[in-house]
Amino acid sequence: MIKKKIILDCDPGHDDAVAIMLAVASNEIDLLGITCVGGNATLENTKLNALKICSLLKRQDIPIYAGSDKPLIYDLVTAEHVHGKSGLDTDGDPIHLEPNHQIEEMSAIDFIIKECNGSDEPIYLCPTGPLTNIALSLQKDPSIKDNIKEIVLMGGAAMCLGNITPAAEFNIYVDPHAANVVFNSGIEITMMGLDVTHKVNVNDEIINSIKSNNNKASIFFADLMKFYSRFHRDLYKSNESPLHDPCVIAYLINNKIFKGKKVHVQVEEDSNLTRGETVVDWLGVKKLKSNCNVITEADSEAFFKMLKKELAKLN
Ligand code: RIB
Ligand code: CA
Repeated sequence: MIKKKIILDCDPGHDDAVAIMLAVASNEIDLLGITCVGGNATLENTKLNALKICSLLKRQDIPIYAGSDKPLIYDLVTAEHVHGKSGLDTDGDPIHLEPNHQIEEMSAIDFIIKECNGSDEPIYLCPTGPLTNIALSLQKDPSIKDNIKEIVLMGGAAMCLGNITPAAEFNIYVDPHAANVVFNSGIEITMMGLDVTHKVNVNDEIINSIKSNNNKASIFFADLMKFYSRFHRDLYKSNESPLHDPCVIAYLINNKIFKGKKVHVQVEEDSNLTRGETVVDWLGVKKLKSNCNVITEADSEAFFKMLKKELAKLN
């Protein structure tokens, strides 16, 4: 079986951490590198968190790159209210880094361009944070489009409420200009928005079931989810918390778990009221060419069965 070559561009972030663990565990995925962006926390914290996650997994061999510390035009908006000051707060034991485990010298943008231009087979870009790094890479070298198989992103909301404003999902809200660079790139895009990620919810039963794998990674998953659940339980008044970012990796592993529709998507960039809204023409009323496969359904049971099995493979 040919592994899918991917670059995971992220802002860890509790759910980004689960996406990293799933990508590392899966035999279907060849994780070329992790690129970090400012989002859930500052870039200083997101890159440190990526190092911590790879250290915990004993995968210091996975190269990690620093990208943009702010959106293309707007100032950075972070989500400490969800992920804590560090961006990866838990009640678990602190993760200590080996002195020689550091961020690569090369910038994330140059890494993305190098890998896309140099790969003998098309690459999947998997952004799970604001789309700034992806947009900057496309702007610096538009020819990389020719070797990008698909962009599978976590972001947006087609027919449901936003989570940072009533109209917008966080990743798209933070950098709507970058989002439109991506949606207008002509590259094959699959959007894992809140419509589908709110159908993949962790709860205590799932957390305890995965923790019963009783390996370090699964215990770390449980520690992450215990902290991450606090915000969502308070906001949604339920014991369910949407597990956004791992949907991107799960889609690459088995896209039969998901259902969607190819439609036209464009992002509001400037309105104070609706900045970051993904305007999804689900009914095709404007008869514009579709530019995105918008995923709205998921088999949650199959997703968590996969996640538990994959995390059990880690150290
Ligand atoms: O809106 C949810 C998204 O924003 C997730 O990717 C989360 O990690 C944050 O980046
Ligand atoms: Ca994220």
